[in-house]
Amino acid sequence: MSPKPINLRSDTQTLPTPAMLQAIASAELGDDTYDADPTVKRFEAMAAAAIGKPAAMLAISGHMANLIALIVHAPAGSEVILDADSHIFHYEVGSLGSVAHLMPWPVTSEAGMLDPQRVAAAIRERDIHYPTPRLLCLENTHNRSGGRVIPLGLHDELCEVAHARGLAVHLDGARIFNAAIAAGVSVHAYTAKVDSVMFALTKGLSCPLGSVLAGDEAFIAEARHVRRRLGGGMRQAGIIAAAGIVALETMIEPLAHDHARARALAEGLARIPGLRVDMASVETNMVYVNHTATGRSTDQIIELLARHSVIASNRPPDHIRLVTNRHHDDATITEAITRVQAAINSIV
Ligand SMILES: Cc1ncc(COP(=O)(O)O)c(C=O)c1O
Repeated sequence: MSPKPINLRSDTQTLPTPAMLQAIASAELGDDTYDADPTVKRFEAMAAAAIGKPAAMLAISGHMANLIALIVHAPAGSEVILDADSHIFHYEVGSLGSVAHLMPWPVTSEAGMLDPQRVAAAIRERDIHYPTPRLLCLENTHNRSGGRVIPLGLHDELCEVAHARGLAVHLDGARIFNAAIAAGVSVHAYTAKVDSVMFALTKGLSCPLGSVLAGDEAFIAEARHVRRRLGGGMRQAGIIAAAGIVALETMIEPLAHDHARARALAEGLARIPGLRVDMASVETNMVYVNHTATGRSTDQIIELLARHSVIASNRPPDHIRLVTNRHHDDATITEAITRVQAAINSIV
């Protein structure tokens, strides 16, 4: 019989904690569309304070919160500058075009680091032939580069470039608490210069649902309207907010353990002949492993690992991705390394 799989697919695999389930069961509820869910109100006030913005709104997903931010900041037909490797450009089903009616202007980054000069050059002058640029989107940590942390200095410079040219800045901070912890700065330092920020409750913070969009009062008032327009208005959303309160109170600091375990995992995997890990790239909870020396395709490696009871994600053509979360203790990481070693030994 195969052992229980070790699921390193994503930090989205986290399950609610017992404290969250208890909080959900005992939450005081009301109809949030009538502005009458006390748990949502309490959560949104806490979330605004935690992220360092005057106001915050609960949304059902990170994708929806990003989409709402795009719609509020940029009128249909205007242009959005963003990283060609960003989640919004890559994984959000093109909703910035099909739903928000925006023109994306993707800029290539180096491992998630946008170059301020390239961004400045991408902001086109007002011209009758061009859509008007309205918004710069940043992402931190940067998912497709392997959870890299955009340093605060670079982040501030990018905000300044955009603001100097009259663009707003939205931060896709699905994992902004991971970024702040890894960078050793307060999360407020990262949000001070952006006009809006999204953070996810469902990743390392372990909630079953939800994300937060934060900004100033006027931005959030408009965001509530757009959320409703998209069909994202909720009723007794206190069941989501109750878990969110537990997450804000107890789940932020422990993210540092996920980072330490990702590093231990990376070190172990880097010692396996046939695999290569750029240790400098392992800054938070993600490990990208280059498998080219095995001579197998990414999907073959994923399948092989699954047969050895390790679940990873594919990042073709050269990489697999493994992500740590609170369900992995030190022994699980050691066992994962042993299983990957056995899998790779069977083919090289
Ligand atoms: C950087 C980033 N932004 C946005 C999202 C979207 O979040 P959700 O899955 O809640 O829609 C994700 C999800 O993985 C993400 O990694």
